[in-house]
Amino acid sequence: MEIEVGPLADRGRVPRGDRAAGLYLVAREGDEHLGHVRLRWRGAYRACVSPEVPGDGPFLEDLFVEPAYRSRGVGSRLVAEAEELARALGGRRLELRVERSNLRARALYERLGYLEVGAADDHIAGSFIGKDGRPHRWHGEMLALVKDLEAPG
Ligand SMILES: CC(C)(COP(=O)(O)OP(=O)(O)OC[C@H]1O[C@@H](n2cnc3c(N)ncnc32)[C@H](O)[C@@H]1OP(=O)(O)O)[C@@H](O)C(=O)NCCC(=O)NCCS
Repeated sequence: MEIEVGPLADRGRVPRGDRAAGLYLVAREGDEHLGHVRLRWRGAYRACVSPEVPGDGPFLEDLFVEPAYRSRGVGSRLVAEAEELARALGGRRLELRVERSNLRARALYERLGYLEVGAADDHIAGSFIGKDGRPHRWHGEMLALVKDLEAPG
């Protein structure tokens, strides 16, 4: 598995977000796109992450691994590489948000040393058209997690 870093490494596959904001780390095996994660600097919504960008810390978002490649360490490796990059850019801690009900992602982050720091009153909501062709509403409660990048180990 190789990890590529770029402003947006795979335009065809990464669906969301401002193309100029942050760096995507993309995991590949040959031509196969295994997954991705985005590293951003808080406040740097229009600029690529760089040491020159002011902000109070880096954060991760849009971690995704293709279902066929899950449980092989791809997600953990993406997060670990993003941490390395954040450290190299001078970041002291890395933040992210995860939905309370996303137990799988929460277990992954916990294993990698992320601690819950609240934001339990932060909610997201939306709607989508289900397989039954009808609109459904969804609602999620977001948790904020943080990892100290300077801690040993
Ligand atoms: C959450 C998500 C990113 C995890 O990705 P992943 O590549 O499966 O993560 P990992 O493989 O690193 O770790 C997950 C599991 O693999 C196991 N694992 C880790 N390395 C492994 C390896 N080398 N070989 C076998 N299994 C391994 C872990 O023990 C863990 O166990 P589990 O399957 O019981 O959960 C993925 O499920 C996903 O894309 N979900 C949808 C999007 C999402 O929820 N994103 C998070 C938003 S905050």
